Amino acid sequence: MPAPSLPPGRPREVRGQDMPDLLRLDQAAFPDDPMRNSTLRQLLDMYADHLLVIEDDDGHLCAYVLATPPYKGESWIFSLGVAPAKRGKGLARTLMTKALETVRAEGASTVRLWVEPTNEPAKALYKSLGFTSDPEGARPDHFGPGAHRLGMTLKL
Ligand SMILES: CC(C)(COP(=O)(O)OP(=O)(O)OC[C@H]1O[C@@H](n2cnc3c(N)ncnc32)[C@H](O)[C@@H]1OP(=O)(O)O)[C@@H](O)C(=O)NCCC(=O)NCCS
Repeated sequence: MPAPSLPPGRPREVRGQDMPDLLRLDQAAFPDDPMRNSTLRQLLDMYADHLLVIEDDDGHLCAYVLATPPYKGESWIFSLGVAPAKRGKGLARTLMTKALETVRAEGASTVRLWVEPTNEPAKALYKSLGFTSDPEGARPDHFGPGAHRLGMTLKL
């Protein structure tokens, strides 16, 4: 029997059958740079217990985060996305708080991420959680031509 769905707003681990919904969510959250189907599938397979999702009232995924299990004390926020219609309701903060709790319990002492230097909502969220920007500033073309990225780090 399938596990019963949790109430909306509560993070849960992703499931294999979430794949189509997760793809849709990623495309909605990152319309200019969605993940390839194959990349997302393999992330789901590798990190199912670290890929957290939130369902909306209709049972569709509306937010996700992937924080990698710590390696040598370091975890990465690989991706964080919320459906446009569901933003500003605290879903990203809920997911990040849960993800950080998880990797801290697993032994992470540092959490890192890359963010677009112009992504003010994301930077504000990360700063409010204690992340600091790399002192050297954004790395030009880090994700490819024109795709500059700023590194941010949290010490747990
Ligand atoms: C960035 C993103 C994940 C935030 O999701 P969200 O669910 O709307 O965020 P929350 O409602 O949990 O807000 C958490 C904090 O983010 C910041 N924030 C959110 N929206 C903001 C906005 N429009 N302007 C400025 N700060 C904002 C605030 O610090 C906010 O805290 P507060 O509500 O106490 O002020 C969401 O906008 C998104 O998916 N964007 C597209 C994908 C993306 O950029 N992902 C991050 C990649 S690094």
